[in-house]
Amino acid sequence: MTIHGELEEHYGERYDEAGRLGASIKGRLELARVQDLLTRYLPPPPAAVADIGGGPGVHAGWLQQRGYNVQLIDPIERHIVQATEAGISAVQGDARQLPWDDEEFDGTFVAGPMYHLREASDRQLALREATRVTKLGGFVAVIAINRAANLIGSTLANTLIQRQGVVTEILRDGFSPQNERMAETTYHTVAQLRSELMNSGLRGVTIHGLTGPGGWLTVMIDAHYQGQPLPDSLREPDPLRTALECSRLADRHPELVQSSSLLFGIGQRA
Ligand SMILES: C[S@@+](CC[C@H](N)C(=O)[O-])C[C@H]1O[C@@H](n2cnc3c(N)ncnc32)[C@H](O)[C@@H]1O
Repeated sequence: MTIHGELEEHYGERYDEAGRLGASIKGRLELARVQDLLTRYLPPPPAAVADIGGGPGVHAGWLQQRGYNVQLIDPIERHIVQATEAGISAVQGDARQLPWDDEEFDGTFVAGPMYHLREASDRQLALREATRVTKLGGFVAVIAINRAANLIGSTLANTLIQRQGVVTEILRDGFSPQNERMAETTYHTVAQLRSELMNSGLRGVTIHGLTGPGGWLTVMIDAHYQGQPLPDSLREPDPLRTALECSRLADRHPELVQSSSLLFGIGQRA
């Protein structure tokens, strides 16, 4: 079971994932919403949580600070070093073959493998493994990227004309070999994510818009003002607050999940 070299090159050499969630307003929205949703579903600390594809451990660190007993797994050595330095128990490995016993965790969080595993059969393996290590009744939560995200994001950034070939391929196939933005990435439709979670045996599957419609305000700001002072109209009230409020309001209306660039899927081990 090998990890594609492109992933190693992307996260190991080209791109430092450790700063992503703090470096942009979109990242800060994602972080706040992950915390919202994990708080809603996880049992109280000191429950045991597996962070699968946990990267440098930003979410694991937050969970640990709240008193959870966290184990992280990730294939990239640099991430394991970063997570370990942050005081997290981290092991190098693959979501498709977890080193843990059946029902070891009260909840599992899979934020990475769903969008980095190209083959549906590999995603199914990863979901089955996450389910296996979760206790009966415990939650398996995943993050996936909406297939529409590139179309809308590139339009708001006014880069659609240059990226039209890539965007068209992603809309059609859920993947583009020319995608210059990320390491090997698969994009889901909402229906596809739902059926992948249900096929892995989870019950009560729900898909939330993680960044929600408010995420597009953050994409706009990041695309046009990154590193520059914001005009007054975008400073007050704090646009992060606006985006968060928007996405929390939309969460009560399941039909609005389609408007979110990131999808948060969750189901319970039966
Ligand atoms: C964008 S990072 C997300 C990190 C963190 N989970 C978060 O949400 O901020 C995607 C992560 O998925 C990991 N990943 C990709 N394929 C994986 C696999 N087959 N098994 C486990 N982790 C994987 C990558 O190494 C990377 O750390």
